[in-house]
Amino acid sequence: MHSLSALLISALLCQVTGEETIIGLYGETLEIPCNNGVIKAEEVLITQWKYDKADGLSGDLLVWQKNQNVSISATDDYKGRVSMAANFSLLLSAAKLSDQCTFTCLVAIGNIKEYPVNVVIYKSPAGLQISDKAESLAIGKRTKLGTCVAHDANPAANITWWKNRQPLMSDGNAIYIQTSVLVDPDTGLSSTSAMLEYSAKKEDTDAEFSCSTQPTVGAQLVSSLLTFTITYSTENVVLQVMAPEPLVEGDNVTLKCLADGNPAPTSFKFHLKGELVKVENGDSYTITNVSRDFSGEYNCSLIHNSTLGSSENVTVSYLDINLSPSGIIVRLAGETLDLSLQIDSSVVAKVSWTKDGVKLDKEPKFAKVVYSDSGSYECEVTMGLLTRRDSFELVVEGAPIIRQLSKQSGEDGRHKVLTCEAEGSPKPVVSWSINGTSLDESPFVNGKITHRITVVPATNLTVSCTVFNDFGFDTRAINVSSLFEEVRMDKQDQSDGSDQTKLVVGVVVGLLVASLVIGLAYWVYVKKSKHGSWKTGEIENGSSEEEKRLGESSQKAEV
Ligand SMILES: *[C@@H]1O[C@H](CO)[C@@H](O)[C@H](O)[C@H]1NC(C)=O
Ligand SMILES: *[C@@H]1O[C@H](CO)[C@@H](O)[C@H](O)[C@H]1NC(C)=O
Ligand SMILES: *[C@@H]1O[C@H](CO)[C@@H](O)[C@H](O)[C@H]1NC(C)=O
Ligand SMILES: *[C@@H]1O[C@H](CO)[C@@H](O)[C@H](O)[C@H]1NC(C)=O
Ligand SMILES: *[C@@H]1O[C@H](CO)[C@@H](O)[C@H](O)[C@H]1NC(C)=O
Ligand SMILES: *[C@@H]1O[C@H](CO)[C@@H](O)[C@H](O)[C@H]1NC(C)=O
Repeated sequence: MHSLSALLISALLCQVTGEETIIGLYGETLEIPCNNGVIKAEEVLITQWKYDKADGLSGDLLVWQKNQNVSISATDDYKGRVSMAANFSLLLSAAKLSDQCTFTCLVAIGNIKEYPVNVVIYKSPAGLQISDKAESLAIGKRTKLGTCVAHDANPAANITWWKNRQPLMSDGNAIYIQTSVLVDPDTGLSSTSAMLEYSAKKEDTDAEFSCSTQPTVGAQLVSSLLTFTITYSTENVVLQVMAPEPLVEGDNVTLKCLADGNPAPTSFKFHLKGELVKVENGDSYTITNVSRDFSGEYNCSLIHNSTLGSSENVTVSYLDINLSPSGIIVRLAGETLDLSLQIDSSVVAKVSWTKDGVKLDKEPKFAKVVYSDSGSYECEVTMGLLTRRDSFELVVEGAPIIRQLSKQSGEDGRHKVLTCEAEGSPKPVVSWSINGTSLDESPFVNGKITHRITVVPATNLTVSCTVFNDFGFDTRAINVSSLFEEVRMDKQDQSDGSDQTKLVVGVVVGLLVASLVIGLAYWVYVKKSKHGSWKTGEIENGSSEEEKRLGESSQKAEV
């Protein structure tokens, strides 16, 4: 309506009919030249300026006659605003939009010539402002971002919206720009408004929005840069469990509810195994000194929307072991030891055993303890990063027993070595019935001890070994033959079947008459020795196995 009436008003005032056009700036003095200024002033007799009125008539403005002052005949709107320059240009002050019509200069030299000029008045916008600025932009929802207004321009300004130096165009979807022009009924000036509706994306968080206009005259106008908070509702909620690894009884656990969205939610609900806890202005909940009952599924969600939530399973690890018996355990050899290791754990644990620091293949069992069972036992129970240890020390005690009493010839044949092997605990004391030279005593390991002496028997001897400790004693005897007799027998043994003997026999046959008798006697003697009737039960040069067997049989006889 306004623009229509403004047009009517200006139409009533004047009319545009000419061909030459000049542009004037609104509010300033406009010079309208007469015939482009190509006039020889000295030849001019009369110059008159008039303008075309809307009704087809013309209005007089001023007249100049040679050697006279300018006579101003303007009425109405032009009164007081028109004057003429020396070169016959019409000077029109405080140009307005209603001045946009055809002004004609009539020049009388010999004849009369008319020079019509169209006047167009331009005005740059008074400024460029963004109004109705949105507080924030919601993602995916087309929101009115703002309205860019270019006030009081002629012709009406064209406004362009920009995002990060990229022009925005209406796309009928995410971007919608509605432009409208308002004409001031008094001045006829146009104000252009460009309203931008924009559907934001997450990446628009720091985007700079602005608008600009390129006026018909003058420099480009650019608005200030705007940024917006991009809001979006929560889409994801994650429950974060902050707990030491492994989580064991007595630890603290903090449950933290992480949610996206802008602004981010500030209040949450925690479901703690049936219990509901509301947390306002915070996202965390801490549980101190957890116990094994704490294990289970935990959940957090938005305080007003339980469907946006997240769950986590929390496991409190525990590992309790009970080894029975423990400490120092004393048993008599042959007794039973019932061992029990009870494990109470959150998941199946692994058990390993060591005895005196050496790994065992399986859990020890003691149906009947023996001396070698003595030692320090340790069990290690492992479950993930948790480890428990317990131990006991088993001491097997009992009266000593002689396991073996044996003899052996010394390498040089001049002494004998007697060995007494006994078992018992505490460490038995070993004593012999004769004075020998003590060779060595083995270390006391697994309840076993071995004692050796060397003897040089001048006669046949019966030697006994005695072992004793706090629990009792044991004794055993062995017959040891005289060394000298054995040496003699050794020589006879050696002569049997040797080449040397054959030679000696040959000499004897050649020299002695009674060789047959002696030979017979010798045969009888040899035959007798093969039956072993002369043997003492000892074989000095026999195989070691034979010797051992004989030794054993001699022991059995004594037991
Ligand atoms: C006419 O004279 C004015 C000053 O009086 C001058 O500014 C202007 O340029 C002149 N116009 C022409 C067309 O010569
Ligand atoms: C932790 O809880 C246990 C029982 O669950 C209790 O015996 C103990 O005293 C508590 N410790 C602390 C530091 O509160
Ligand atoms: C927690 O454990 C239960 C039972 O094992 C299972 O059904 C559930 O899916 C688990 N929850 C999560 C979040 O892993
Ligand atoms: C052993 O020697 C000691 C002295 O050294 C002596 O008194 C004791 O009679 C000897 N015993 C035997 C069995 O020879
Ligand atoms: C020693 O024993 C052997 C056989 O047992 C016997 O032949 C020998 O005569 C005995 N010697 C003495 C001195 O008793
Ligand atoms: C040791 O010799 C004696 C006789 O000298 C005999 O009675 C005993 O049985 C012999 N012992 C062994 C173990 O040979």
